[in-house]
This record gives sequence, C-alpha cells and structure tokens, in this order.
Amino acid sequence: MDAGVLAQVLRGLPPIDDPNVLVGTSTADDAGVYKLRDDLALVLTVDFFTPIVDDPYTFGAIAAANSLSDVYAMGGRPIAALAVAAFPEEMDPQTIGAVLRGGADKAREAGINIIGGHTIKDDEPKYGLSVTGVVDPNAVLRNSTAQPGDVLLLTKPLGTGILTTARRSDRIGDDAMIDAIASMTTLNRGAAEALEGCTVHAATDVTGFGLLGHLREMVSGAGAGAEIHAAQVPIFNRALELARDGVAPGGTKTNLRNALADGARFDDGVDEAMRLLLADAQTSGGLLVAIAAADADRYITQAAARGVRAAAIGTITNEPGIRIRESSTR
Ligand code: CO
Ligand code: CO
Repeated sequence: MDAGVLAQVLRGLPPIDDPNVLVGTSTADDAGVYKLRDDLALVLTVDFFTPIVDDPYTFGAIAAANSLSDVYAMGGRPIAALAVAAFPEEMDPQTIGAVLRGGADKAREAGINIIGGHTIKDDEPKYGLSVTGVVDPNAVLRNSTAQPGDVLLLTKPLGTGILTTARRSDRIGDDAMIDAIASMTTLNRGAAEALEGCTVHAATDVTGFGLLGHLREMVSGAGAGAEIHAAQVPIFNRALELARDGVAPGGTKTNLRNALADGARFDDGVDEAMRLLLADAQTSGGLLVAIAAADADRYITQAAARGVRAAAIGTITNEPGIRIRESSTR
C-alpha cells in the first residue's frame, strides 16, 4: 500500500498498550518486537507479493530473502517461518512446487526451516513468509533512533523495480537481470552480521517505499533530517538509462510524488531519472544503516569480508527533511 494511506489507516486503530510490545505499529518499523523475558524478545514479520520474475524457483527464493530481511533489519536472528501463498486453481503443481522449493532452500540458507503455512486459491499467484526471529531486547535495531552526524550506508544497489518492470515489457532480456536477481536472492544476513562491534544507531531495509521513503521513516522517527549524495548511491547497470526512457513501476512514481510532498529537496543537477531511482520501489533491497561516523569505514570493511559492498551515501543531519545533493562534498 501507499505509505501515506497506510499511515492514515493505522492511525485509526486502537493504540497498543502492552508493555511487552517493544516495537509496534507507531514507528513504521520493519517488524514487531515482543519481549518474552528481560534477555529475550521475539521479532515477528510477514511479507508476500506477486511474482516479479518468470522463473518460479527464483520467485520463491526472492520472496523468502525479502521476508527474512526484516528480521535482520531489527538486529534479530530468524528461528522459523511459515509460508503464505495464493495460487490459481489451474496452476501446474510442479510450478507451485518450484516456488515453495525456492523459498524452502533460501530459508535453509538462513539456517531455518519453513514449518507450516497457509495457501488459498487466487487468480494471481502470491507468495511470502511470516518469519519469527529472536533478539536481545537491549540490542533491537530500530529504524527511528538515528543521530545527527551518523553516516548512512546502503548495502545493495537500487533499481530492481525499474529493471523488473522493463523485463516484464520485454524492453530488456534475461541477461540484463542477472545482477539484480543475484542481489534480490542475497540474504541480508551478511550485511547484518557485519554490524558486529559498530555503533549502530538505526537500521531498516529498503523495500517498497524506495530509499527516500524508508529514509523518511528513519528521519521522521528520529526527529532528524538527512543529506544524500546521489553520485554515491549504487545503482544497477541499465537502470538509469531505462528510467530516462520513462520506465518505472507505478509504485516508484508514487514514492517520488510522496517524497516531494514530504519536502524532499533535490539539487538541480539530480535529474528526473536519478530521482526515480532514489524513489524506486525495491524488492529484497539492502539494509540502510545509520552508524556513528567513526565506525563507517569499519562497517564497510567488515561487510566486504562477507561479500557485501556497503556504500556510504550520506549523513543524518539536525535539519529536518531530506536533501539530495548531486555529488559528494566529503
Ligand atoms: Co523492512
Ligand atoms: Co515489509
């Protein structure tokens, strides 16, 4: 759903007053966190969507990596998952099996099993996981606690929304999707484990609301602002050229409109295509972390040791709102 509509709908619900709910719906965080004991809390999240690639096994793997990501974004460790799925009545059981196998294999890679689930009939296939994780209540990584001066780091390139939209209309072939598919099927586990020993003030993952939308949740939750250096934001090959040709999913255009309505300010040198990329709705995107400046290089090194390329893309500022500069001033 659109972030603004969702926020409005959630405001109409009764407030949560259970003291064991450490993270609920009030801060648009990645997952709910429920305290069981002083040293143990559950991380609860669910995510599912329609196929974004043709290959059913790959779709299952991407959906699972995407669902698991919210546990990593909270600083948690997944322990088990349930599948949530809808398939058309006429769909070949082998195809359904491939989706479920893709999800199961990805869950195994994360060290967990899918121990149940629920399926319904629907004209449009849908698949995802409800993942349960555990976290030390004192080590929960919220999205709303960034501090001015923090460096913002992003662990995957942007552009999966634009690329998958281009692939769907056959503007690009399968070869142009290789990097994006490798990225979407990559667990954010390594990116999360690389935070070890760093002073991390906030974390989230970049998904449907795009970098600007998830960053907005991060800064508004913290009563802070952010400055992004567009030239330092990693993007997939071909994505910028496709955006220049006007290829972008509806969600991406909505995200950009919302960013502008929320007061995001772009330097003139940041062209329309780059603005779309910064707002591009991602599937299984990277972690966006706000780290004390002194630890930014340490994180980049620790991430690289796990095969993750983390890019320093900007900073958290005192001044509310998001400013997008053309290039680095560091
Ligand atoms: Co998330
Ligand atoms: Co989600």
